[in-house]
Amino acid sequence: MLVTPYATLALFAPSVYALLRFSCSQLVVERLDPLVNPGQTGSPHLHQIIGGNAFNVSMDPNAAPSDTATCTTCTFAEDFSNYWTAVMFFKAKNGTFKRVPIKGNVGFEASSGGMTVYYTPTISNTAKASVTAFKKGFRMIIGNPTYRTEAQAKQFRQLTYTCLQNANTRTGETLAFPTKPCPAGIMANVRFPTCWDGVNLDSPDHMSHVAYPSSGTFETNGPCPSTHPVKVPQLFYEVIWDTTKFNDKSLWPTDGSQPFVWSFGDATGYGNHGDYVFGWKGDALQRAMDSNCNINCPTLKTQTIPTGNKCAQQQKVVEDIDGWLTELPGGMPVS
Ligand SMILES: *[C@@H]1O[C@H](CO)[C@@H](O)[C@H](O)[C@H]1NC(C)=O
Ligand SMILES: *[C@@H]1O[C@H](CO)[C@@H](O)[C@H](O)[C@H]1NC(C)=O
Repeated sequence: MLVTPYATLALFAPSVYALLRFSCSQLVVERLDPLVNPGQTGSPHLHQIIGGNAFNVSMDPNAAPSDTATCTTCTFAEDFSNYWTAVMFFKAKNGTFKRVPIKGNVGFEASSGGMTVYYTPTISNTAKASVTAFKKGFRMIIGNPTYRTEAQAKQFRQLTYTCLQNANTRTGETLAFPTKPCPAGIMANVRFPTCWDGVNLDSPDHMSHVAYPSSGTFETNGPCPSTHPVKVPQLFYEVIWDTTKFNDKSLWPTDGSQPFVWSFGDATGYGNHGDYVFGWKGDALQRAMDSNCNINCPTLKTQTIPTGNKCAQQQKVVEDIDGWLTELPGGMPVS
């Protein structure tokens, strides 16, 4: 079990810290991955994507999403970034799979199928928040979909699950899928590293251009390593999977295991990962970081959640994702 002070602070004391927190509704759910499988119409596994509608099969790092997008699902209207994760499925006793829907977070209940996104400069009460915002063309991934053991998952900090007893539960994070039914759903938490090499906007594994603090943690204001000296905001996704209609224990496997699997075939939860393509307009993110913004951020343009809900894309890889499926989309095996 991990207990992260950040989650507690995020909930109870947001006004003390600069902590940009907002909602982005679902843009599309489909098998595309312009980071790992650019140009491939039909990536190996299914994703749920939020953010600007410049999301595409390929995304040229030299083209700013804020120039090509015409709308965004995020409440900060200058954020045309894309954020995505895998999709959770319930595996029935008869072997079929049903997609688990996403629901809006506390305060963002009107959000249709989206996530909560945070950019946090620091959570230290005493340290002056000073971070360099991501630049045009920046992208990164955290987590590894092939991982299936706790030892592997521990190579990443803070890719976790919260078994929601109610909508406000923020303690008891685990690296594996919760083993018991969660009364208010399962929150997947994806926190990215906070140190950048200052040079590369991306790297072959989409990870090695960023790093964790060399000692301590982001939460304890640990220093960045000399290889990755530039402190960037902590990007953090909270995704609330509404597992409640699958909570009846009679639907669960009789061997005592839990029934949820990721779209990449992971029934352990250790392969939790998230993807990011920066797409803020101009210097909007840096401005927000410099002005100690929270949910309310006067320096940024905002739009309502219902307006964000209207920004959506049609599936380019057209396939059934909502029936009782005999296999995971793309034929991804459970392993
Ligand atoms: C996606 O890419 C295709 C092929 O390059 C292009 O025709 C289409 O306009 C793009 N769509 C969006 C939303 O950018
Ligand atoms: C498999 O199980 C689910 C959940 O109980 C049920 O809704 C579905 O109809 C079943 N499918 C088949 C082919 O039996």
